[in-house]
Amino acid sequence: MNSKKTVFVTGGAGFIGSHTVVELLNADFDVIVIDNFVNAVHGSDGQAPSLTRAQQITGRKLTFYQCDLLNKNDLSAIFKKHKIDFVIHFAAMKAVGESMQKPLFYYKNNVVSTINLMEVMRENGVYNLVFSSSCVVYGNPQYLPIDEAHPTGNVSSVYGRTKYCLEQMFEDICRAEKKWNVISLRYFNPVGAHPSGLIGEDPTRAYTNLMPIIGEVATGRLPELVIFGGDYESVDGTGIRDYIHVMDLATGHVAALKKFAENPRYKVYNLGTGTGYTVLQLVQAFEKVSKKTVPYRIEARRLGDIQAMWGNCSLAEKDLGWKAVYGLDQMCEDFWQWQTQNPTGYRCHVEDKQLAS
Ligand code: WQD
Repeated sequence: MNSKKTVFVTGGAGFIGSHTVVELLNADFDVIVIDNFVNAVHGSDGQAPSLTRAQQITGRKLTFYQCDLLNKNDLSAIFKKHKIDFVIHFAAMKAVGESMQKPLFYYKNNVVSTINLMEVMRENGVYNLVFSSSCVVYGNPQYLPIDEAHPTGNVSSVYGRTKYCLEQMFEDICRAEKKWNVISLRYFNPVGAHPSGLIGEDPTRAYTNLMPIIGEVATGRLPELVIFGGDYESVDGTGIRDYIHVMDLATGHVAALKKFAENPRYKVYNLGTGTGYTVLQLVQAFEKVSKKTVPYRIEARRLGDIQAMWGNCSLAEKDLGWKAVYGLDQMCEDFWQWQTQNPTGYRCHVEDKQLAS
């Protein structure tokens, strides 16, 4: 009999999902992934190149279904077919600007889809869920570093409100129904790539986050980086964030799964490094590692941007035995390796025969 635990991963072909899948396979879990390819590249073979490579990195197989959480019948069929122990739920729309233009679309894709998922889980006796949350639920920090006790809900974007709304929902459900265990992981700013250079961030939409834009400038595809704001209270006037290597986030999810043995009900953990760096410090680290110059121009602050945000992540260390281990240079180095090995992301290798083998 197979005593291995099975993890069902939604949105597992995406950036954080695919790196977590690698760590789940390395930790000897059986892994089932669904993705609807809205935010992940779709290979011509019907598979996700990110997952083909996750299997290449680990030498282990996973099971993949193209499935949208809004399609409850398809989801139910997958749950009926497999014995699932844990669910990690990454699938969501995540563009802050777009969420302000299309609120209904965001509530449907982030909130309704999660309700569908939890209903199907319950119908099949699966009650353990790890949720992809965000430091965005804290809104503008009242103090730094931000710990989990910091007030939440004062969130300006629709995207952020869907995350906050779901966190409230989990709390209510776990209070009312004792079988449920939900762990919300509040990520700070995920960056970097797998150290193999085989998987990394390759959104199907335009880049808006800092590190991928720096990469575009370093490779000459963008003429310069526009830095939003040079008059913040920081060593160099630029905004501060807690950048965390995606592999650290990945191990954070594996650590969270172990917590389910204690029937924790509803828990929330920050996943960050606990250290804030400015935009210019990230640019300098990137230039050092890549040996490229990143031309930049300082412009007005971006509307809605927070001045500084970094986390107190000691609760995750105490409760989950997890701590971020990668520093800023490693984040830049791994991102740069991914970028130079895959100048057009997964697209340049989608037809690669090696991948399919
Ligand atoms: C980082 C810093 C910018 C681009 C994060 C997530 C986002 C969402 C909210 C996730 C800031 C500066 C950026 C550029 C710049 N939630 N910057 N020029 O704003 O912290 O958002 O939290 O759950 O998806 O990424 O991240 O990468 O956009 O910006 O100067 O072209 O870089 O002002 O200080 P942010 P970011």
